[in-house]
Amino acid sequence: MTYNVLHVGAGGFGARWCDTFLPPNVTDGTIEVVGLVDIDTKALEQGRRHLGLKAEQCFTSAQEAFRAVKADFCTIVIPPALHELIVDLALAQGMHILSEKPIADTMEASVRIADKVKAAGRKMGVTMSHRFDQDKSTLRKLVSADTLGRVNTVSCRFAGDYRIYDSWSRFRHEMVHPMLIEGAVHHLDILADLAGAPCTSIFARSWKPEWAEYKGDTDVIVSMEFANGAHGVYEGSSAQSTGLNDWTFEYFRVETASGTAILDHREVEVFHRDPKRIYQRSRQGKGQHVSLLAGKKWGNSLLIEQFCHWLDGGPAMATNVEDNLQSVAMVFSAIESARLGQPLKVQEFLHSFREGLQLHHN
Ligand SMILES: NC(=O)c1ccc[n+]([C@@H]2O[C@H](COP(=O)([O-])OP(=O)(O)OC[C@H]3O[C@@H](n4cnc5c(N)ncnc54)[C@H](O)[C@@H]3O)[C@@H](O)[C@H]2O)c1
Repeated sequence: MTYNVLHVGAGGFGARWCDTFLPPNVTDGTIEVVGLVDIDTKALEQGRRHLGLKAEQCFTSAQEAFRAVKADFCTIVIPPALHELIVDLALAQGMHILSEKPIADTMEASVRIADKVKAAGRKMGVTMSHRFDQDKSTLRKLVSADTLGRVNTVSCRFAGDYRIYDSWSRFRHEMVHPMLIEGAVHHLDILADLAGAPCTSIFARSWKPEWAEYKGDTDVIVSMEFANGAHGVYEGSSAQSTGLNDWTFEYFRVETASGTAILDHREVEVFHRDPKRIYQRSRQGKGQHVSLLAGKKWGNSLLIEQFCHWLDGGPAMATNVEDNLQSVAMVFSAIESARLGQPLKVQEFLHSFREGLQLHHN
């Protein structure tokens, strides 16, 4: 079945939705875009042209759009502090929701959104697009194939050169914890997926070097433990000097009982331990090259399709809002850990918000 979509957010990353992610799903009959919203008329007009919509299908007010447009679900691509507002409008119209990450800009709002969606009996998915990129999917398949054995450590480096004001969309330069909330949510999500278990304990340090034109912290180092005994390390900076591991070119490494798998700049390589040797040495770049998985859709385009399969009655997408609270809990427990200067138990942290206890905010 073809689902009718009301898309909210045509500028910034929403422009990519309008010119790249939505169109292949329109072409193959997965969706039809029946309405478009942005408060910025220029972005709205550009999106309208890419999607081939009529002027009367485009709105500068979300309230008006939700009143006027009949759709099966809405897609949300506006800053996270505004996600809940759109979720409320969608649920009032009985619509399902596919939203950009993070669920919201606070733990409280993220939990509230998941609870409202459940109470309304609707479906909501979150586009953790990087986990579903071609290179990360290839690494995940390699690690979960069992040929490498049990996962011991997972690590990630993100190093983007966005120190100049406005270079990473204005709201990120003005918000608290831009790296953790807007960036690391992807990387921590991928690390938990590679570890193969929920995160149990997290310890984070965050700071802002003097050259970073931000209000919040741009640099983080996070150490993690997962429920299956795996450990994780994350190093993230959105004010790094040279853009060494920018968006989509991150470094990931998975150490297992009998091998090492590395993803760096979209290239995957694997090293196998030779059990006949007493010890061995390896060097990045000299491993066995692993071809990227074949597929037509990746990232957001794939997630739109997965969401529609879920609406069709198929299995819940991996990044359904309830399960995705795990990734948000990693981010906000890391923030709390950085504030307190001590490790935090992630599942207890999440549970405290679920129960409305908010133990960590007393
Ligand atoms: N998955 C990814 O790789 C990825 C990448 C970038 C951004 N994002 C996510 O996408 C979302 C948007 O980020 P961005 O970088 O595009 O932000 P942005 O600030 O660059 O653009 C936001 C757009 O939303 C519009 N907007 C703001 N308030 C609105 C409202 N009330 N109603 C309608 N439109 C409104 C703005 O006019 C602008 O066009 C965030 O949740 C962000 O985390 C995801």
